[in-house]
Amino acid sequence: TSLKEVYKDKFLLGTALHVQHTNGLRKESSVVVEQQFNSIVAENCMKPEELHPSEDEYDFTDADVFVQYGEKHNMFIVGHTLIWHSQVPEWFFLNDKGEQCSREELINRMRDHIYTVVGRYKGRVQAWDVVNEAIDDIEGLRKSKWFEIIGPEYIELAFKFANEADPNAELYYNDYSLILPHRRTEAVRLIKKLQEKGLRVDGIGMQAHYGIDYVKIHEFEKSITDFAALGIKVMLTELDISVLPFPTEEISAEISQKYALVPEFDPFTTSLPDSMQTKLASNYVDLFKILLKHQDKISRVTFWGVNDAHTWRNNWPIEGRTDHPLLFDRKNNPKKAYHAIIELG
Ligand code: XIL
Repeated sequence: TSLKEVYKDKFLLGTALHVQHTNGLRKESSVVVEQQFNSIVAENCMKPEELHPSEDEYDFTDADVFVQYGEKHNMFIVGHTLIWHSQVPEWFFLNDKGEQCSREELINRMRDHIYTVVGRYKGRVQAWDVVNEAIDDIEGLRKSKWFEIIGPEYIELAFKFANEADPNAELYYNDYSLILPHRRTEAVRLIKKLQEKGLRVDGIGMQAHYGIDYVKIHEFEKSITDFAALGIKVMLTELDISVLPFPTEEISAEISQKYALVPEFDPFTTSLPDSMQTKLASNYVDLFKILLKHQDKISRVTFWGVNDAHTWRNNWPIEGRTDHPLLFDRKNNPKKAYHAIIELG
């Protein structure tokens, strides 16, 4: 049995892949990928810094391998991400004198980037995270370079260009912490505005980088129902649940790194005590119960990585930690959380 089997009539089950998963360098994890998942997303290889290092240079080496891998295994392939403030090279925003470029120049570059990237995989990549993380943490839209130079219309333009480049690919808006009420409200406002302008938005991705006991389930549920009420697909796009404390202003980074949630738990070892395995499993079960309750609204649940060895949470929000956020451990063995989710489906 497998995740994709158990959930096949409910929603797609996906995972983010590194290049090494698709070029044969992580064979054991690839077995897990092929057994368990029916959708993939590129963890890094489709970001502008990888694909488009300078204005006249595109490098599709890794992205091509990624897409071929998904096709070979009949997977729903998601491209991540076209327009984002992070992992985008500086040249996008500069003119040939090294100063900030003009609005027109940036719009032209955006069009060229989206047409070239989406156009290359037309009919092969089924969906795109068109705009990622455009909402500000305090209020309104994030004051990114895209926003500063083009204005808030950069989001509309990105969806317009993506639709022109591949009218059949699904187009998504993707962001984090969408279970926080003010960020949820902002996301609803943003999608409504795009819809009013006649732009096609097919879905919203809730990244879902959570922490143990962090999620307020009624807020999680409200985000799903509010987003679905917009008439679009809702998905979890980057799911992981860190077992380590999130650094806050009260807990400095250094202290929180040493702080253990349970007394016998040493965050620097690679094994997770049983009590924490159980806690993680029950956190996942709480989420999946809501996802199942709303399975008519949820189209996909994608984990951000395959196993704990390579998860980005080992390095975020603090570098060099030993985290355990996924369903498979460092040796690709299924954890308690995996079995709990299987049982629930
Ligand atoms: C992360 C990758 O997992 C890391 O390997 C990389 O160093 C930084 O980006 N939100 C997103 C993802 O939309 O693209 C990020 O991925 C994680 C946060």
